[in-house]
Amino acid sequence: MKGRLFCANWKMHHGPRAARRFLELFLRSYNGAGDRRVWFFPPAVSLTAVLEMIQGRAGLGAGAQNVHWEAKGAFTGEISVPMLVEAGAVGAIVGHSERRHIFGEKDEEAGKKARALLEAGLTPVFCVGEKLEEREAGRTWEVVERQLQVLGDLPPSLLERVVVAYEPVWAIGTGRNATPGDAAEVHRAIRSWFAGRGVAVDATVVLYGGSVNPSNAKELLAEPEIDGVLVGGASLDPESWLSIVQT
Ligand code: 13P
Repeated sequence: MKGRLFCANWKMHHGPRAARRFLELFLRSYNGAGDRRVWFFPPAVSLTAVLEMIQGRAGLGAGAQNVHWEAKGAFTGEISVPMLVEAGAVGAIVGHSERRHIFGEKDEEAGKKARALLEAGLTPVFCVGEKLEEREAGRTWEVVERQLQVLGDLPPSLLERVVVAYEPVWAIGTGRNATPGDAAEVHRAIRSWFAGRGVAVDATVVLYGGSVNPSNAKELLAEPEIDGVLVGGASLDPESWLSIVQT
């Protein structure tokens, strides 16, 4: 299960045509290396295009950027976990800082989404991270722990399948990444939070996200606490994404 995980969060970029073109170029050069997994999170409208393009390619997967916790119903604009299962998705990003801070998504909602995904056998890429003023006030762990709290009542058998992405808000899209040491400290605390709830210490997959690019990926991935990366801007171009996933 472990091994490196590279997640591309395309945010609101790449419609179906651009997504297909991206994958054509990417697949031409991608030499899927052993224990490495590469997951794409395109806009929902492009998800089936991506899944078709990567079908049958070992180590490649795709999921949604957001999901609703109810299975179906009158929830205009939402997509559900059973729909993701039917499409063949690996899971969904949950609680991304843009969902939390631009769209006002609450901790409890992220918790319900994660639970719905896990119960259906899918993977939540559960995002946590502090804002700059919180870091400067020495409140990083307090914030991250509060964000994790909504997972606290899940049994270890589900908890061990959560992928956590530590994305300090001040590092997202700013060109300012956390140092491997900064990230490692938080990753270690996240791992011990899960260990305290019955998950084997080395079972939890913890990704780092925030201004990861081809120049800093190697240094970040050399840090043993960092199991992989969640990348926005630098995942939009096939060349740059290839150079990150082939780090
Ligand atoms: P950037 O890589 O553009 O900083 O975005 C990070 C992110 O939010 C990934 O989810």
